[in-house]
Amino acid sequence: MNRPIGIFDSGIGGLTVARAVKDLLPQETIVYFGDVANLPYGEKSTTSILAYVIQICDLLLQHQCKVILMACNSASTVAYELASAHVGNKAVVLNVIDPFVDYVGSQFSGQSIALIATQRTVQSGVYEKKLQALSSGIILNSLATPRLIPMIEASFSQGIDQPMINHYLQHAALQEISALVLGCTHYAIIKKEIQAFYADSKPQVAVVDASEIIARYVNRFLTHHQLLCTSRQAKDYFMTSAMTASFEGAVYAFFGREVKLTRMAAPREDAASLGG
Ligand code: DGL
Repeated sequence: MNRPIGIFDSGIGGLTVARAVKDLLPQETIVYFGDVANLPYGEKSTTSILAYVIQICDLLLQHQCKVILMACNSASTVAYELASAHVGNKAVVLNVIDPFVDYVGSQFSGQSIALIATQRTVQSGVYEKKLQALSSGIILNSLATPRLIPMIEASFSQGIDQPMINHYLQHAALQEISALVLGCTHYAIIKKEIQAFYADSKPQVAVVDASEIIARYVNRFLTHHQLLCTSRQAKDYFMTSAMTASFEGAVYAFFGREVKLTRMAAPREDAASLGG
């Protein structure tokens, strides 16, 4: 089906997923929204996140997206069911958590692993609950690492703060593990720096991010439902609610300068229409 794939996140984190999708499915057109004006989602109320997500879904539907991929764990945690109900049969809504949990459950069964994510995702216990439902025998410790988000969001203009990363990774909750699961799409951007922390002293710790796993899931989904594009359609299109130098730098770093990039009005907490 020759309609685009819509992908959104609070900022640049979802670009890691978008890039992986594009690498696997080069025929597909991506329409991306980064809600930089409202970042960080991980610190926002449920009401706010629900309102933002509904407005973003409406925007992506205006672009005729066949799939809306929530490339944000915090939004997936809070708003997946509502987004699916709101979008109805106009498109398919996919979240990042379910396929990622399935992967982690199958790869690390019976092991002690840890999750780093936003406050929202950690407090919800969504990874623990879903892993438990798989009876994977995984022991999961979780740590909220919220200061990483603004640092990463600004990293394409201000660089990466390795001491901040190391500080979090030294936390007691993250010791004696065989894998560290990156439960926030922003963290894939600092995967190399996280691996560098473990390289000398604990090279056995696997650092697992969701981007390629989600891309393979999207591929399987589109193939199974015969929704794949049959020919290259249009330029990839990126929208943001705040055009920061870092967002612009990240889009060009991930997708090159050929793409379209536009600033849009920011979703507002009081502006959602739940009418569908
Ligand atoms: N990238 C988002 C996630 O996966 C979170 C960033 C934020 O808190 O805005 O949870």
